[in-house]
Amino acid sequence: EPGSDDEGANARTIPELRAAAEGCRRCPLWSDATQTVFGEGPENAIVVFVGEQPGDQEDIAGKPFVGPAGKMLDAVLVEAEVDRSEVYVTNGVKHFKFEPRGKRRIHAKPNAGEVKACRWWLDRELAILKPSLAVALGATAAQSLLGKTVPITKMRGQVVEREDGLRVFLTIHPSYILRIRESADKEAERGRFLADMKAVKRLM
Ligand code: URA
Ligand code: SF4
Repeated sequence: EPGSDDEGANARTIPELRAAAEGCRRCPLWSDATQTVFGEGPENAIVVFVGEQPGDQEDIAGKPFVGPAGKMLDAVLVEAEVDRSEVYVTNGVKHFKFEPRGKRRIHAKPNAGEVKACRWWLDRELAILKPSLAVALGATAAQSLLGKTVPITKMRGQVVEREDGLRVFLTIHPSYILRIRESADKEAERGRFLADMKAVKRLM
C-alpha cells in the first residue's frame, strides 16, 4: 500500500523494491526533492558501494553517482580495475537534502533520524543482493551500514564485520577529494582513495 510503513517488505527483487520506494514517506526528505534515487546495478553484484545521499544532479537524473563525485568514483574504479558490472551503487539516504541558495541547491547533511529511517531500504537492498562486501563511502554511509557513528579518518582502509556477517570496508567519500583546493594535497588524497579501491578489489 503506497505510503504505508511496511511498504517494500514483500519485495523480492530490486525493481520491486525500487518501485515501492518511489512513494516513501518515512522521513520528511521526500517533500522537497524531485524523486527517490534508488540503487542501481546488477542483482548478482559482489560488492555494494554505499554513498551518503543523491546530489543535485542525481536528484534530477534519478540515478546515483552521476554527478562530479560519481565521475571521480568511476575514474578511480577503472584505475583500480574494479569491474562496474560486478558493482551495485546506492546511498544510505535516498532523497536529496539541500538548502536553497539563490538558484542553487546546496547539499545539506542528513541527520541521524533521516539516516535511521532510510536504513529500511538499504537493509532490504542488502537482503536481496547478499553481497560479499559493502563499501562505506564516508561517515554517513558507515553510520547507515553499521548503525553507529565511526571515526572514518582513523578507520579508513579497515574492514568491520556486522552481526549478520557482512564485511564493511570503510573509506572516505569521493566528494571529499573534490573539495580539496591545493592540487598536491588533492592528488595525494586521490592516491589514498585509489589504494583503498585496490584493497576493495583484493577483497572481492
Ligand atoms: N554523493 C553521494 O553520496 N551519492 C550520490 O549518489 C552522489 C553524490
Ligand atoms: Fe524515505 Fe529515505 Fe526518502 Fe526519507 S530519504 S523519504 S526514508 S526514501
